[in-house]
Amino acid sequence: MSAAAKSMRLDRLLANLGYGSRRDIQSLVKRGRVVLDGSPLTDAGQHVAVSRELSERMTIAGARLDPPPGLVLMMHKPLGVTCSHKEAGPLIYHLLPQRWRARKPAISTIGRLDKDTSGLLLLTDDGALLHRAIAPKSKVAKRYLARLARPLRGDEAEVLASGTLMLEGEAKPLLPVEMEIATEAECGGLSKAEVDANGPVVVVTLMEGRYHQVRRMFAALGNHVGALHRDRFGGLQMPDDLAAGEFRVLDEAGIERIFA
Ligand code: URA
Repeated sequence: MSAAAKSMRLDRLLANLGYGSRRDIQSLVKRGRVVLDGSPLTDAGQHVAVSRELSERMTIAGARLDPPPGLVLMMHKPLGVTCSHKEAGPLIYHLLPQRWRARKPAISTIGRLDKDTSGLLLLTDDGALLHRAIAPKSKVAKRYLARLARPLRGDEAEVLASGTLMLEGEAKPLLPVEMEIATEAECGGLSKAEVDANGPVVVVTLMEGRYHQVRRMFAALGNHVGALHRDRFGGLQMPDDLAAGEFRVLDEAGIERIFA
């Protein structure tokens, strides 16, 4: 959480969290609906210390305060939703509570997954953290399971590791990418025969995030990605109990694991 967010006027904090206009907040305060540590607050202009724990100490109209600024979410992105604020069709932000969509600063995805990619997606309202997480120099690894349409030719892992593969239309080769054949467990319990019948499944780990990188990488290797799922972002692993479309708020330790 940035230093600037540490202490804020109550009406500004709540308006920025989407609870209404400054006037609406003043009215909530007047009616005793904003409670801190069990006592109703009386001055909408007072400053409050903003920390992650504030949600456990403050209630608004009887309900726990939404996560304060500095929010980081881990989501299981389902197939068919777009990581965009303004495109047509189902958007990732529609999976968030209505009020969270009115927050300032807005919640944005940390990088993107294609509409046809599922898996671990992080979102935040913290611009500095977002940039740090996607900056190539941070070396945050992203791991994907890719089902390929065609059999492997045999040299893919070597070419990807070499750091020489060029994507169509780009001037710089990709940084080295690690590739392994997925284990049966990683294939979601499919047997070797089933996997072979449906196309090989590989696990790739990238340090950068170029546009449609995994799909374009395998196109450059003469293959085609049929299905793509991200299961790791830095040191964070998709939890088994996070169903598609669900999300959870990361605590301090979870946020640190992104960069572990
Ligand atoms: N690479 C892709 O091709 N698509 C994604 O969604 C992520 C990485």
